Amino acid sequence: MSLVSTDIIDGVAVVTADNPPVNALGHALKVELMNVFSRLRDDAPTAAVLIAAGRTFMAGADVREFGQPIQPPAIFDVAALIESLPFPVVAAIHGNALGGGLELALGCHARIAERGTRLGFPEVTLGVIPGSGGVVRTVRLLAPADAVALVTSGERISAERAARLGLIDRVVDGDLREAAMDYARELAFGRRPAPLSERPTPDDPGPDFWAEQETAVRRKARGSQAPLVALDVLRTAYAEPFEAARVVEGKAFERLRDSGEARALRHVFFAERRAAKAAKADGARKVETVGIVGGGTMGAGIATALLQRGLTVTLAETTAEAAKAGRARVEAAVTAAARRGLVKDASAVLAGLATTTDFAAFGPCDLVVEAVFEDLAVKRDVFRRLEGVVSPNAILVTNTSFLDPREIASAVSDRTRFLGLHFFSPAQVMKLVEIVPLPETAEATLATAFALTERLGKVGVRSGICEGFIGNRIYKRYRTGAEDIAREGVPIARIDAAMRGFGLALGPFETQDLTGLDIAFRQREAARAAGEDIPETIGDRLVKAGRLGQKSGGGWYDYAEGDRTPRPSAATAAILAAAGVPREAPGLAEAEIAARLVAGMAEEGAAILAEGVAGDASDIDLVEIHGYGFPRWRGGPMHLAREMGLAKLEAALGRPASDALRQLVEPA
Ligand code: COA
Repeated sequence: MSLVSTDIIDGVAVVTADNPPVNALGHALKVELMNVFSRLRDDAPTAAVLIAAGRTFMAGADVREFGQPIQPPAIFDVAALIESLPFPVVAAIHGNALGGGLELALGCHARIAERGTRLGFPEVTLGVIPGSGGVVRTVRLLAPADAVALVTSGERISAERAARLGLIDRVVDGDLREAAMDYARELAFGRRPAPLSERPTPDDPGPDFWAEQETAVRRKARGSQAPLVALDVLRTAYAEPFEAARVVEGKAFERLRDSGEARALRHVFFAERRAAKAAKADGARKVETVGIVGGGTMGAGIATALLQRGLTVTLAETTAEAAKAGRARVEAAVTAAARRGLVKDASAVLAGLATTTDFAAFGPCDLVVEAVFEDLAVKRDVFRRLEGVVSPNAILVTNTSFLDPREIASAVSDRTRFLGLHFFSPAQVMKLVEIVPLPETAEATLATAFALTERLGKVGVRSGICEGFIGNRIYKRYRTGAEDIAREGVPIARIDAAMRGFGLALGPFETQDLTGLDIAFRQREAARAAGEDIPETIGDRLVKAGRLGQKSGGGWYDYAEGDRTPRPSAATAAILAAAGVPREAPGLAEAEIAARLVAGMAEEGAAILAEGVAGDASDIDLVEIHGYGFPRWRGGPMHLAREMGLAKLEAALGRPASDALRQLVEPA
C-alpha cells in the first residue's frame, strides 16, 4: 500500500503522507516522498502542499529504526529535494511536527500550522540532536537565544509561539488544506521565499553569548551529553556556511545515535509508551469528583494535582482549623504553579476546591483518597467511616507509602473497589504514582486508577505488595548501601559528590537531610519492636542525637540558619568515630561508588522482579526515573545493569551477584 498520495487541485499538487499512527518518517515513507517529489519536478505544478493524513503531521524519524544501520535516503535528502524544486512547497502542519517532521517542514519554502499544533526537536530527549538540517535551518529563522532553547531543550512549543518566533509563517483556524493551497498559490505568483539553505549564515552572537548558554545548558543537562553537542553544532552553524555546518550536524547525529546515552533514552521512550498502554485498559470509569481525607503535605499535593487537571476536590480534615490550613497549602501550591506559568487562572482552579470536616460531603465523590498519618489504626478507621457515607460505586484509595494495603483494607467490606495509589511528594510535581492493587481489586478499579493517573499527566506503574513497594524498597537498599560505604571510612561528602556526578540532583546523605532521617528511623524502631533483628545504624545514632536533617538544623551535615548548603559537621564526625568508622578512607573512586550503589539497586530490583512485585524491569526503571530523580539519560538501574554486564556488576559489588541479578543480565 502506498504511503504517499498526490492530488492536483487547480494546479496545486497536494502531497499527502499517510503512515499511521503518527506518520513517522521510516525508510519506506522517505523513499516514497523522494519518488513523489522527483516526479513532481517534471509535472511542474504551480505550487505544492505537503500535508499528512490522520492525527498528526510527521512526528519524527522512526525511533524503531534508530538501532539499525542508516539507509538512504536521509530526511535531509528529502528536504534538499523539496528545496530545489522550481515551485514553492508549503508544509501544512497539524497535530505535531517533531524532530525529522519539523526538519522536513523546514525544507519546505513556507510553513503553516493549525492552531493547537505542537512543534519541537525532541531529539535531545532521545540522546541525539537534529541531524537532517534541523539545526542549520533553524538558525536561519530564529533569534540565536530562541534557536538554542528550541534545539537544546527538546521542548515542544505551540503553533502560536512558533509563529511569533518565526519558525512557521502562519497559524490557521479554518481548513488547513485549503489555507495551505491558497498560501502556496500566493507564493507562486508573488515573492517566493528563498530556501533556507541558500540564505546567508546568520551573524555569530559572540563569545559571551556562547559562554552564557553553555553554563545554562550544562546545568540543565546534568551529565547528559546530547544538549551540549547540540550547542556545539549550533555554534558551528553560526560560524560556517550551510554545507559545511550541515555535514558537522549530520556527523554529530550519527555519533550520538550509537551512544550509551541514546540507547538508554530510547529504552525509556519505549518503557513509557508501554506503561501508557496499560493506562488505556478497558473498563475505566469516569472520575470527576474526588474526596481527599487529610490536608497535610500529601493530601494538599494530591488535591493540587487533581484541581490543576480540572477535577473537583473535597478535602476533609478533623477540625475547621486544620481544614483551613489544608486549603492554604493548596492555595499556595496553585499560586506557585501559576507563577511558573503552569496554571493559567489560579482562582478558576481553586474554585473546584471545597473543604469540610464532615465525611458526609463525600457523598457525590467518584473516588476518595486517604492521605492521613502513616498509622494503621488511624487509616483503618478512616475507611470504616468512609464506607458508610460514600456511594457504593466510589473507589477507595490509600496513599500509604509503606503500610500493607491489605491490612488497611481489612475493615472494608467491598475490597473490589479498593487499591493503593502511592503519590510522591510534592504530589503536584512528582510524576510517579505506584498503583498497588489488592488481590481482590476489580479490573475496572485498576483501569480507573491508571486512567486517572494518565489524566493527571503522571506515570502510573503497577506494583505488587511488599515493604516499601518498588520504589522505597530500592531506595532503602540504596540508602543502606551508601551508609555501608561511609562505614568503610569514605567521607559522606565524597559519596554525595559521586552520586551528583552520576546525575542525581542530590547525593544520598543530602537527600536524607532534606526529607528527614526520622521517618526511616521510626520504621526501623517499629520493626525492632516487632522482633526484627536490625542492627543500629549511623542514621539511628544521628536521630538519637537530635540530628533529624535540615528541619532540626543538622543531620549528616550542619546547616546555617535559612541556608540549605550542607557543611561538614563535627558532631557527625564524632558519631562516626564513636561507631568505629575508620578515618582513613579506602581509595574508592567516585565512579566506583556510583557503580556499587547502582549495582545494589539493580540487585534489589531483580529480586522485586523475580518475586513478581514489578511486572517488567523497565517499570522499575520508570519508578526510579520519575520518583527518585535517577538520571533519565542513564536509562534506570535495570537498563544500566544490563549495559554493565555481569562481570562489572560483580566487580562493583565485590562479590557474586544474586541469582535474580544474574538472571536479569544474562537470561538463560
Ligand atoms: N517513531 C516510531 N514510533 C513512534 C514515534 C516515532 N517517532 N512516535 C510515536 N510512535 C508510536 C508509539 O510508540 C505508539 O506506538 P504503539 O501504538 O505501537 O505503541 C504510537 O506511535 C502512538 O504514539 P502515542 O504516543 O501513543 O500517541 P499520541 O497520540 O499520544 O502522541 C506523539 C503522539 C507524536 C505526540 C507522541 O507519540 C510522541 O511524542 N512521539 C515521540 C516523537 C519523537 O520523539 N520524535 C522525534 C524522533 S527524533
